[in-house]
Amino acid sequence: MTAAAPLISLDEAEELTVRQVHELYRSHVNRSQVALMTSFGFGRELVDHAEGAWIHTRDGRRILDFTGGVGVLNHGHNHPRILAARRRFQERQRMEVHKTYFSPYVAALGHNLAQLLPADLGMSFFPNSGAEAVEGAVKLAYKYHAGRRTRILHADISFHGKLLGSGSLTGSAQSAAFRFPGIPGVATFTYGDLDSVREAVGRARDAKGGCDVYAILIEPFSASTMTECSEGFLRGLRDLCTAEDIVLIFDEIYTGWGKTGSLFHFMRYPGLVPDVVTTSKAFGGGKSSISAFVAREPVFKKAYDNLGDAMLQSTSTTYYGFGEETATAIEAVNIVVEDDYPARARAIERVLVPGLERLRKQYPDIIADVRGAGALHGVFLDGGPRILDLAAKLAPGGLARDPLLRTKLITCAVINAMYREHDVFLYYTLNGRSPLVVAPPLVAGPAEVEIFLDAFERTLAKGLTRLLTAFVKDKAVSRWA
Ligand SMILES: Cc1ncc(COP(=O)(O)O)c(C=O)c1O
Repeated sequence: MTAAAPLISLDEAEELTVRQVHELYRSHVNRSQVALMTSFGFGRELVDHAEGAWIHTRDGRRILDFTGGVGVLNHGHNHPRILAARRRFQERQRMEVHKTYFSPYVAALGHNLAQLLPADLGMSFFPNSGAEAVEGAVKLAYKYHAGRRTRILHADISFHGKLLGSGSLTGSAQSAAFRFPGIPGVATFTYGDLDSVREAVGRARDAKGGCDVYAILIEPFSASTMTECSEGFLRGLRDLCTAEDIVLIFDEIYTGWGKTGSLFHFMRYPGLVPDVVTTSKAFGGGKSSISAFVAREPVFKKAYDNLGDAMLQSTSTTYYGFGEETATAIEAVNIVVEDDYPARARAIERVLVPGLERLRKQYPDIIADVRGAGALHGVFLDGGPRILDLAAKLAPGGLARDPLLRTKLITCAVINAMYREHDVFLYYTLNGRSPLVVAPPLVAGPAEVEIFLDAFERTLAKGLTRLLTAFVKDKAVSRWA
């Protein structure tokens, strides 16, 4: 067999220069992605390796990663125990693929989740991505009602994934920008407002006055907006779902495994138990592409527990419950428990929050608000020179219609300065009020938090005008780079 051009070997791939990588992305992956990432100051160097809270670039820079890997890196980069678990799996030539042999790893992981989650949350399924876990949970709820109920509710503040189904249950700005078709029967309620849920349920009655809602989906802590439900709201939601026999699904794909200071965010409220919880991201220890939905035993039983439906639950039929992925997740969960990751998040919070509060008081014109929990915080930036409003009005394409354009420009300018001048890596969310996200991995200690705070203070001290000028210059340079 001949190829049109010589194929690139793995060795050669690791030797590609950043220019060659950009060119190949432009030709074969996504041209606009290159333009977008490089204008934020990122993507202009390649990473050699990463360890714990640190990224080492090929040109010798050492970058402090305070993005938390957008939820993935509770264990930091390349945790030695995670690497050892994967090496061991490979060296012993363990098997993937065949589902007709039962997997000891799936069995053990299911057991472990049942031990750690409250009450009878104990029946697990392990697909690959968060969106698949959400869709698996939704299918389970629909099947629980044997297809007799047709409506599902989600909050106006929500991010549940980007597949057609999970995307249609997502209320983020990104999903509103272009609407793909989704699953039928979707309605929205106001996040944290029980009356709004009651009204939505009230509107979804069948001809006989029976409830037509099969599931309610909610993030107890919304990581894309740094908003959390009150205890009263969550308990009220639980009572309502119990009274109406609605399957209550908590999406903790982002917040699971200690990040906000409890094992799962909802577990800070004793006795509060959803019917299904979804998890992913840090569940794979930063290496494994794995997610889960875990259902209460009676809910799972009614939905799938008979010979005819035994294989119906799989959302993804090939890549689910794979050996190396589940073995990695077993190790990841054991590390979370043994090293008490919820306590680590609380220790980070004890240094991070007073530091951010001090900066908020010192720079009230720039920092409008700071919100978050554990090792996951949002800094809401504001202010900047008046000329920005004019720039926002004159922005090309749909950008001018974005009411948050000013905030996004300011936040990007801060991210740019933190990255270029202080070697600290941060991101901002496209959802809600687009906060700057400060999310150290849970392997970070007070020393790393102090490095971040010091760099943030020196960045804010420059003032927004200078930061914006540097950002625009950098952006212009990147166009020709
Ligand atoms: C709360 C929540 N749910 C679902 C998802 C979707 O997960 P994935 O991107 O792995 O499909 C995410 C991803 O950020 C998330 O934060």
